[in-house]
Formats: sequence, C-alpha cells, structure tokens
Amino acid sequence: MKVLMVCLGNICRSPMAEGILRDKAIANNLSIETDSCGTANYHTGEPADSRGVRTLANKGIDISDLRARQFRVSDYSDFDLIYCMDLDNYNNIITLAPNQELVKKVRLILDEIEDFEDSSSVPDPYYGGDSGFNHVYDLLDQATNVIIEKYV
Ligand code: 4NP
Repeated sequence: MKVLMVCLGNICRSPMAEGILRDKAIANNLSIETDSCGTANYHTGEPADSRGVRTLANKGIDISDLRARQFRVSDYSDFDLIYCMDLDNYNNIITLAPNQELVKKVRLILDEIEDFEDSSSVPDPYYGGDSGFNHVYDLLDQATNVIIEKYV
C-alpha cells in the first residue's frame, strides 16, 4: 500500500500526515509506503516547518529527514491512495487526473474520521502559532488511525 499526503506547501500539514502514518506503520510492522507533496512549488527542497517538526518530536516522531516536493502527474500511477488536506488541494489534484478512474484514489483526509462535523479541511497552521500545529496533530492522529484500520 502506497499512500501520498498532499497539501499546499508540503512543509506543514502533509509532512506531518506522512510522519504520523509512517510512525504507525513502523510501530505496527505494516507494509505502508508513505510520501507527501505540495500542489505549489514554493518550498521545494526545504525541510518541514520547524514548528511542525517540534510538535511531532514532542510525540516521539521524527520528520527531520523529509524534504518538500511538488505534486507530479505520475503520482497518480505511483500511489494507491492520495489524501488531500483541504478542498483546494483536492480540486487542484483532481483537475490533473489523467482519467476519471484515477480520481477515485483521491480523498479528503478528514472524511476518514467518522462523525466529523466540521468542514473537511485540515486548517492551514502556517500563519499561526504552536497551538495550530497541535490541532493539526490531533486531527491527523485520528484520521491515520482510521486509514490503518480501513485499508491495511
Ligand atoms: P502547508 O502550509 O500547505 O500545510 O505546507 C503552507 C505552507 C506555506 C505556505 C502556505 C501554506 N506558503 O504560502 O508559503
């Protein structure tokens, strides 16, 4: 199973999602390959935002190795599931789908959380403080638990 996490910049939300899922896959000895990317190329080659790195380090998860890259159309064939952090990412990615069948691989990550009553977007924490990153962690921790239960 190959899972791609997608956000705008690939420095805040999607590397956190990748790191949380990767950590669970390793801890549970599951054969999940993880990656993440951004719809934009502003931060290509950069490490994840230090606030997100620190938030996950406090949970025992190391994402200091991750580097940003932009989404590419070949990701459609390279991954089984493509999880978008928000609706803008989702709409941008499905526009690039080579065919409608491949659109089925693309989901909004928070739609995996049952009874989720808010909008289906992981709020972008880029312009806020540490509390935004902690909230992102809580949402992605829940969503990745469901992903593991449902698909692995
Ligand atoms: P991300 O957050 O999409 O969760 O990585 C952002 C990072 C950078 C920018 C916007 C959102 N930016 O405008 O540079």
